[in-house]
Parts: sequence; C-alpha cells; structure tokens
Amino acid sequence: MTTEQTSPAPSTMDDAGTDLAESTNDASLERTQRRSDEIEREIVQDASRFRVLTGDRPTGNLHLGHYFGSLLNRVRLQQAGVETFVLVADYQVITDRDGVGPVRDRVLSLIADYLAVGIDAERSTIFTHSAVPALNQLMLPFLSVVTDAELRRNPTVKSELDATGDRPMSGLMLTYPVHQAADILFCKANLVPVGKDQLPHLEQARVIARRFDERYGRAGDGSQPVFPRPEALLSDAASVLGTDGQKMSKSRGNSIELGMDADTTAKLLKRAVTDADRHITYDPVGRPEVSNLVLLAALSTGRRPEDVAEEIGDGGGAALKKAAIEGVNEMLAPVRARRAELTADPGYLLQVLRRGNDRANAVAEATLAEVREAMSMVY
Ligand code: TRP
Repeated sequence: MTTEQTSPAPSTMDDAGTDLAESTNDASLERTQRRSDEIEREIVQDASRFRVLTGDRPTGNLHLGHYFGSLLNRVRLQQAGVETFVLVADYQVITDRDGVGPVRDRVLSLIADYLAVGIDAERSTIFTHSAVPALNQLMLPFLSVVTDAELRRNPTVKSELDATGDRPMSGLMLTYPVHQAADILFCKANLVPVGKDQLPHLEQARVIARRFDERYGRAGDGSQPVFPRPEALLSDAASVLGTDGQKMSKSRGNSIELGMDADTTAKLLKRAVTDADRHITYDPVGRPEVSNLVLLAALSTGRRPEDVAEEIGDGGGAALKKAAIEGVNEMLAPVRARRAELTADPGYLLQVLRRGNDRANAVAEATLAEVREAMSMVY
C-alpha cells in the first residue's frame, strides 16, 4: 500500500518485482488487514467515498463457497450504500485452454445467481467485458507500462501455470493481471473485495495506475491523477470446503451449487467425507472434513460452529450431516425459488445485463476520454 505513495517520480519499471512480492509478505499483509479494517469503519461513516469492483468468471454455477466467501459480502456492501460494479468476466474465460463452453448460458446463469442472492440491479451495475470496448482499450496503454518479466513473476500467473502443467500459455493468460487492472480502473474503483491470494493482482493494478500517471498522466504537474490507487477489502469470511474436504470447486465435483435442488444437496452432503470419531467437535485443523460440515450447519443457521458441535455431541456423522442438510436447504430455499423464477425469464436477465452494460460503457468512455487527454491523443 505504501509503495506508490513513497515512490520517486522517475517512471522506471524496475521496481515491479518488489512491489508484487511485497504484497504477500507478513508485514505487508498485516498492514493491508489493518487498512481493510479501517476501511470497514469508513464505510459506515460515509459509504459514498467508495466504489467497489468485483466479479466472477462465468465458468459455471455459483456454489456455497462463493456464497459465504463473496456473495454475502457484496450484498452487505450494497446494503451499506457502497456503489458496486459487478463484472461478469467473459473475456477472462478465453484464457482457459480447454475452450470456453456455453458462455452465453453461463453468463445468464451467473446473473440469475447474483439476483437470487440479493444483488440489486438497480443499485449495482452488472456488466460483461465483451460489451465494453473502452474498458478493453485500456489494455494497450496499461500493457505499455508493464514488462513481460514482471508478468512472468506474478504469483497468480505462476499458479495458473502450475495448475495446468507445462502446457503452453497464451498471451492473454500472461497479461490477464493487466486486464484485471483495466477491470478495476476503468470505473475508478477504489475498493476491491479480495481473498489474500488475489492481493498481487491488486498490487499490479496499483502499480499500473501509478506508472500510467507518472508516464503519461497528470500526476507530475500537480493536477489530479487519472486513476485511483485501489485498495483491498480483505474478507474475513470462513472458507467452506467441498464435500471431500478439499477447496470447493466446480471442477472437483465437490460443490453444492446455489441452484441445486434440495434432494441433490442432501445426497451430496450425505456422501461427504467424515471420520471414525462419533464425537463431533469443531477442529478445522485436526478434523477438516467434520469441521466443514459443522461450519456449514453453523453458517446456514447463524450459529457458532462450537455450539453446533456441542449440540450434536455424540450423535456422530449422521446427525451432523442431517443438521448440515437441513440448515443449507432451509437457507437456500428462498434463493432457489427466486433463482427458478429468474432462469424462467431469460429476457429479464438480458435486460438487466444490457442496462448494466450501457452504464458500464458510459463510465468506460468517460475514463478513456481522460486517458486520451492525458496521453495527448485527442484528435
Ligand atoms: N479473476 C476473478 C475470478 O476468477 C474475476 C475477475 C476478473 C475480477 N476481473 C476482476 C475480480 C477484477 C476482481 C477484480 O473470479
């Protein structure tokens, strides 16, 4: 967070490695956490100072991991009065080497998920990459201020690479942190809700914002910089695991999707991994699978996991699963009902998206006009 404030004026790119590495060391993480807590208090005082950008790739239906990890938080920010842009990152799915799948259906399904959990299309701008040309055009000036070496060092690019083995990497995959910077900066968002693993991306966006203003911009002459320096809102949400005790993800087949019916949910949770000890405790480190079921039962009923575990006591895995199934199904019942109505009306979902895209385009064009001005490219 401090790098761009204290950095000297020359617009070199040599500092990139340090910037990105620093965003994940302990001291920096602690600073980011403290700042994030402070931002939470500032939101309560004056929500109008903040604009949030968040989003998801349209890769499949959202699940409980998304629900507890990010969706509830978005709804909370919206209700606190923070203006929110919600990006359906359809150009990001083309970084996947295995093809994009039925994108249009997935986009509409994602929007149904959003609306079903309470994201309000009147208050939040829901939009897609591919419909906002001026956002994508920011890629060019932004790419001019990053180096290929720095992108290869980006921890998220690296882990994407590791996850897909030695298969060749597309230019878009290499540069997707730059695209994410455009996602954040096109609307001048100053707040991005993230998990710790996403911090390097945000740091990259700040680095790009700073370098753009140093090289092309208005920072040097004492006037307003074009771009804000977006900050992280670190989520304190407990992360729920999949039914196998691994990270919940569609590709692992271990997730409870928001749109699943109650019977499928029950079947999946009944098959969830537990252990041999009938006495139920909440011990996420020692007993991750059992504790995850306890956590699901707790989160879905608004109780403390310790209390849920104590209540079940010697009831064993069966009683635990029953509690988790009932809790999750009851919590999701209204979301599922709303979701079913929404998916039955794709015309409405498209209308929501088109309105969001119109608004995102207006904002992106205004920013691009400033960028052209700063770059002396107004003809
Ligand atoms: N990468 C995010 C995901 O996989 C989606 C995303 C794209 C995003 N651009 C962003 C998130 C900008 C935050 C900020 O879900």
